[in-house]
Amino acid sequence: MFADDEARVLRRWAADDRQVDEWVRRRGAGEPLEHIVGRVEFDGLDLHVGPGVFVPRRRSLLLAEVVVEQVVADRVAERGLLVVEACCGVAPIGAVLGARMPETSVMVADAEGRALMYARRNVPAADVYEGELLAALPPPARGRVAVIAAVPPYVPDSQARLLPAEATGHEPRRALFGGADGLDTVRLLLKQSLDYLARFEDRVCGVDRTCGVVALEMHRSQAESAQEFAVAHGYRTSVVLGDDGQTVVLLARIV
Ligand SMILES: C[S@@+](CC[C@H](N)C(=O)[O-])C[C@H]1O[C@@H](n2cnc3c(N)ncnc32)[C@H](O)[C@@H]1O
Repeated sequence: MFADDEARVLRRWAADDRQVDEWVRRRGAGEPLEHIVGRVEFDGLDLHVGPGVFVPRRRSLLLAEVVVEQVVADRVAERGLLVVEACCGVAPIGAVLGARMPETSVMVADAEGRALMYARRNVPAADVYEGELLAALPPPARGRVAVIAAVPPYVPDSQARLLPAEATGHEPRRALFGGADGLDTVRLLLKQSLDYLARFEDRVCGVDRTCGVVALEMHRSQAESAQEFAVAHGYRTSVVLGDDGQTVVLLARIV
């Protein structure tokens, strides 16, 4: 964002000139704009965020679109199945579903209570759970989830120096880094999802298939390794590449 655009955002949300001055001082000290004004625009929605939480990125609109497509194609609401946003942070994917497909049952989960405070405001209709990955979900969710979506932490630990100070200095470490190759949380989610995905028959082009899909955002350089892991655990996979040429969504469907 250019300085003029930032100034417009600060002016839009500040109560008065004194607050503008205070916010400009904080921004000058390096605090993320979204933490200061307490909001971020995502898919036309004004989401609540604040200090100490991960700010949803524009690149995750790709995941939101992919999830909406899956929910429509698999007739999730009609079947009475669930959509889960794991590692939800302030729950941008849940918020898009809540706004675009209010008839869909959505669960969101994260280990960070502070992020969940905002998630509750961003997706009032969702069930919100605090805990470790999918273990946070209630037992009745097992076998009933049509789509498990996540933007997990996927930056390799060794790439910390490549991230902007706004991320490393103001967002939780756990929200950013995913181990040596960045895929530690991706692998855990793929393994745990097998217990939660719904198994249901569908006829697509005259062919029976079994459904239930995991949709995970990552960098394109990680897709091959993540696909190999998924296939070794019994998934069929495909990859959707974003317009930025960097972001991908791995789709892993149970066979
Ligand atoms: C990259 S952020 C994405 C947040 C949100 N989905 C978004 O796009 O704005 C990753 C999130 O995963 C959560 N997280 C990381 N490890 C976790 C774990 N083991 N269990 C639950 N949540 C975890 C972090 O707290 C953080 O909110």
